[in-house]
Amino acid sequence: METKRDRKAWLRGGTAVCEPPPKPVNGPRRLVLLGAPGVGKGTQAELLAAKLGACQLSTGDIFRGAKSLPPGERSPAMTAALDYMRRGELVPDDTVVDLVAERVGCLRCTGGFLLDGFPRTVAQAGALEDLLKKHNLKLDAVLSYELRIDEVVARLAGRRTCPACKAVFHIETRPPKVQGVCDHCGGALYQREDDRPESIRVRMAAYEKSTAPLADYYRNQGLLIPVLAEGAPEVIFQRTLKALNGRKAAAKT
Ligand code: AP5
Repeated sequence: METKRDRKAWLRGGTAVCEPPPKPVNGPRRLVLLGAPGVGKGTQAELLAAKLGACQLSTGDIFRGAKSLPPGERSPAMTAALDYMRRGELVPDDTVVDLVAERVGCLRCTGGFLLDGFPRTVAQAGALEDLLKKHNLKLDAVLSYELRIDEVVARLAGRRTCPACKAVFHIETRPPKVQGVCDHCGGALYQREDDRPESIRVRMAAYEKSTAPLADYYRNQGLLIPVLAEGAPEVIFQRTLKALNGRKAAAKT
């Protein structure tokens, strides 16, 4: 089994430290991954993290992690956030921004970062910009994954997730080596409750209304890189690397 960084600093917050610790990387990449729920952002973030050494920072993973805490140990804001998530609605901006601000050390990570699922509204994007400015950091690029909606829904329906290390599989297109068992840590895979059809409909509507406008927001800043999300994960991954390298080369000339 390959060792995946546990991302404790991100998932738990507070004084938690990641194991193994991130390796400092020359020219760390600081990227945002945009796209509809289920388009494959988490899958690409995992592949990019392994290649670039940057950490996958998913706000959804923080909420799912909090679900395993006893109710008495959750803050009222987190309990409310889990209800929004269960219904497929967006968690209020203030709650999400506070969670990210508490983990600002992850934005300063020497390995760089891959923000997956944040920002999700223009207000969140503004808050991220302020946070980065305060720490003299800048985004390198925003990858926007694009796919037909019926294909996205098929991806969500077959998704299976590891509750321990958060790795993502698909029963047909990315099956684990042993059915129902995580390749990385041996955890028992499960189906997310927001992957039920009624929650999927709400999530897609929230995406169209609140998150899709972010493409224009980042296009206007010259940061947006559209990536076609058709094909196998490895094909999309190679497409992503090509687009990122093309952008780096263009920046040098
Ligand atoms: P979050 O966890 O961020 O979910 P999401 O954005 O809805 O995205 P998903 O994780 O569902 O999909 P993905 O694009 O990562 O796809 P994946 O790689 O898994 O958020 C969940 C909830 O938390 C939100 O609804 C909200 O309530 C709350 N929340 C989180 N952040 C928030 C924020 N900032 N503000 C407000 N609320 C927030 O792939 C999907 C499936 O497809 C997998 O099975 C995978 O194996 C398969 N697959 C991937 N690529 C391919 C491929 N190329 N071909 C075939 N299958 C593929």
